[in-house]
Amino acid sequence: MQMRSAWLETLGCQMNEADSEKMAGILCAEGYRLAESPEEADVILINTCSIRDKAEQKAFSLAGRFGQLKRRRPGTLLVLTGCVAQKLGAGVLERLPAIDAVIGTARMAGLPALLERVRATGRPEVDTDEASAGEHPAAPVRASRIKAWTNVMFGCDNHCAYCVVPFVRGRERSRRPTEVLAEVAALGRNGYREVTLLGQNVNSYGRGLVPAADFAGLLRAIDGTAGIPRVRFTTSHPKDFSTGLMRALRDLPSVCEAVHLPLQAGADAVLERMNRGYTLERYRRIIGELRETVADVAVTTDIIVGFPGESAADFDDTMKALAEFRFDGIFSFRYSPRDGTAASTMSDEVAEEEKARRLIELQSLQREITEARNVEHVGRVVEVLVEGPSRRDPRAWKGRTRANRIVNFPAAGAIVAGDFVQVRITGAGFLSLEGRVAAGDLVAARCG
Ligand code: 5AD
Ligand code: SF4
Repeated sequence: MQMRSAWLETLGCQMNEADSEKMAGILCAEGYRLAESPEEADVILINTCSIRDKAEQKAFSLAGRFGQLKRRRPGTLLVLTGCVAQKLGAGVLERLPAIDAVIGTARMAGLPALLERVRATGRPEVDTDEASAGEHPAAPVRASRIKAWTNVMFGCDNHCAYCVVPFVRGRERSRRPTEVLAEVAALGRNGYREVTLLGQNVNSYGRGLVPAADFAGLLRAIDGTAGIPRVRFTTSHPKDFSTGLMRALRDLPSVCEAVHLPLQAGADAVLERMNRGYTLERYRRIIGELRETVADVAVTTDIIVGFPGESAADFDDTMKALAEFRFDGIFSFRYSPRDGTAASTMSDEVAEEEKARRLIELQSLQREITEARNVEHVGRVVEVLVEGPSRRDPRAWKGRTRANRIVNFPAAGAIVAGDFVQVRITGAGFLSLEGRVAAGDLVAARCG
């Protein structure tokens, strides 16, 4: 019998990318192959995001497009998973009758069986139970042979007033250090050069585990045993950022000096309504201690503009915070109300045009700061992990520094993707750095 094929379409964050790679692994372990295109696939899976309304609309429009494709190719199964699936459950079938199955990410171990049931009965199936169906033993099918993601925890217990994540990803639960370590060590044996440890709030890693574990300890164990030259993690919550973690960043050679520390807003009144659990002063102390402890640490952040009740003066406080903290980069968003969250019923909504205006102002200030920070690197020699040919110029290479800055440099010698190369920075823009391979012997290590 011919092998069935599957196409996976992924929206949203790294958590979803990691889940899609896991689902691809599960399907391949159970007799599927990955399709070359959605047109030829027997199963199309859409892994969705619901963090903002725009992301959710994208999921619906993709589902509509694939629904048309299904009409031309009856027998194709269309599956919705990820955060929209979790949020709407069976409600998906009312809005999108072309969908054959809705499955939550906690249930992905049961995906092949669910597809068989749909085939056998011809009726749609929904399984968005939040309880885990257990981990499937299949290894993920990863997009890269150089960089990989590993979940250290799932869910979130924080309840930031704007955020849908606790509703769609369930209660916070940490994986055991032994499980994480085994997965990361396997990546090391397979020649991976970089692992990003994923969790909604990695700083609270280990809460509830017996025996007790914490994130700094997990990093120490990974650094000592896994054979991975670069380890990153995301996301950190300011309220749980410990001195122990700062020391781990300072002391562990594999742990990259890059921290994503979402501030969200610069006014205490807004932070309080957001239920973030810290004040601007507390954040200032954390970033100060972090920069003092970890030389050259890169700090990035997330900012939301136009949260309900954000006055012009509050927004000005956010602008001042950006000028003061001089982040290496930010992700910034217009506030988007999400059903079921505490903020969705707050009055004093900021008008959409005003949100748009604030976002432009914020991004233009940050653009200058990011560019100035990048320019500070000109003349320095940095270690670059080569990822592949540069998009702009296929004769040049593209890689990243430990701080995750993109560096483009002309080909020199026998470099291949996965190499570590010392590059002297010769130019800098807003999005990337440019450089030349530094003189001497440059290839420090080679991908296995
Ligand atoms: N509206 C806008 N931005 C949001 N984020 C989370 N929820 C919302 C929302 N309802 C942003 C936060 C978070 C990032 C992943 O997305 O800044 O840190
Ligand atoms: Fe990721 Fe949150 Fe979007 Fe889900 S809702 S995909 S957890 S960003």
